Amino acid sequence: MVKRILFVDDNEMVLNIYRQVFSRKGNEWQCFYSSDAMGAIDILEYSQIDMIITDLDMPMYNGAQLLNLVREKYPAVTRIVFSGSRSVKNNMQTVNCAHRFVAKPNTVGDLERMIEKIFRLYRQLVDPKTRAVINGIDRLPALPSVYLDLLEEFSLPNFSLKKVGTLISGDVGMTTEILKMVNSAYFGLNESVSSPQQAVTLLGGDIVKGLILTAHISRSLTKEEQAFSIESWENHSLLCGIFCQAIAQYEKKTQQEQDTAFVSGILHDVGRIILATSFAEKYRRVLDIATSTHQPLQDVERQVLNTTHSAVGAYLLGLWGLPDQIVELTATHHSPDQYQGESNDLVYMLHAADMLTYELVPEFNPGSLPVPERKAYSPEMEARVNEWRAYCAKVGVERGYLESGSVASGSSDFDLTPLGDADKGVFVHGYDELH
Ligand SMILES: [Fe+2]
Ligand SMILES: [Fe+2]
Repeated sequence: MVKRILFVDDNEMVLNIYRQVFSRKGNEWQCFYSSDAMGAIDILEYSQIDMIITDLDMPMYNGAQLLNLVREKYPAVTRIVFSGSRSVKNNMQTVNCAHRFVAKPNTVGDLERMIEKIFRLYRQLVDPKTRAVINGIDRLPALPSVYLDLLEEFSLPNFSLKKVGTLISGDVGMTTEILKMVNSAYFGLNESVSSPQQAVTLLGGDIVKGLILTAHISRSLTKEEQAFSIESWENHSLLCGIFCQAIAQYEKKTQQEQDTAFVSGILHDVGRIILATSFAEKYRRVLDIATSTHQPLQDVERQVLNTTHSAVGAYLLGLWGLPDQIVELTATHHSPDQYQGESNDLVYMLHAADMLTYELVPEFNPGSLPVPERKAYSPEMEARVNEWRAYCAKVGVERGYLESGSVASGSSDFDLTPLGDADKGVFVHGYDELH
């Protein structure tokens, strides 16, 4: 299907570059161009535009005003800002009406890849009904500015840990939240962490960036809007990240894959927060129906909201520019057989980590929902599940947030020691490495 894209820029030279570059996409994209907001409004009126990409600083009617209007009148249109201003951070704060902010001087090639990526997100993850629901959400949280600062710092060839620490410390609320998580028993660190710099040194940049997003998202749900306990959501997410990372380590995945496992674990249910914040009343109803009828949460979300927390979460993370693999893992964490990304072992590990979080620590179940249905794994993965369960339980017991007695009695098929002595050596070895 042809995608219709509208470019708006008051600089004719820039528009001409777009014309030259994007005319060769004729079969896939139909592009429209306007040098001002009024012209853009006319085009929106008679053409079914899928995506608008606008400059921010324009005379008369600026990009932010234009996008606000688009949000109100054409909620299904994806709104992108492509601005000449270098201050991404300030613009992110003022233009929260955009889904994605791209700062120049990105090349046109970068812009092209970004557009492709967003359309791919649509095709694979989001059906048309869902798209209108998601794009219509007017309070989709913007990326926290400290995260953007960190990306900038990490991209430098000689980035400084001290600078990273200082950047995080600039946000006192964020720092408190991160130190609380890092010092929780889940991480089992031998030393107490007193500064963001120390956290980055001990855990690595990717993990700390993931924690920043989790803290930011949980702060976006205010008290009045809570359809479920935000604390239990945070605990569930953190524990899922820890279990997913532990399983990846048990399976001797690379450090990079273990970090991806952790970050996808802590972000997998971000869609719940978005839905609970944007449709508080309806989401309460979703939780009530799922609890009283024992239907899977995903099915009830689809019936009541026309979308699911997996689709919404993946879409938000995609718009924020998180790595494709994390986006796809989030999209398929309840349907691992539909995962199309690289290394499909990870999606089964994430699904298992999610299940094990419900099973081993039921008190962290946000909204006290029935435990989601576990999906079948590939035969070789299926054979590993009992080992993963035992290993995650072992990690929990060793770190002191699970009691072996209460764990064994709290679940139907849980056995803390299902492995033979020979196998035990494997996971004890793996556990030691976790420290
Ligand atoms: Fe979920
Ligand atoms: Fe979950």
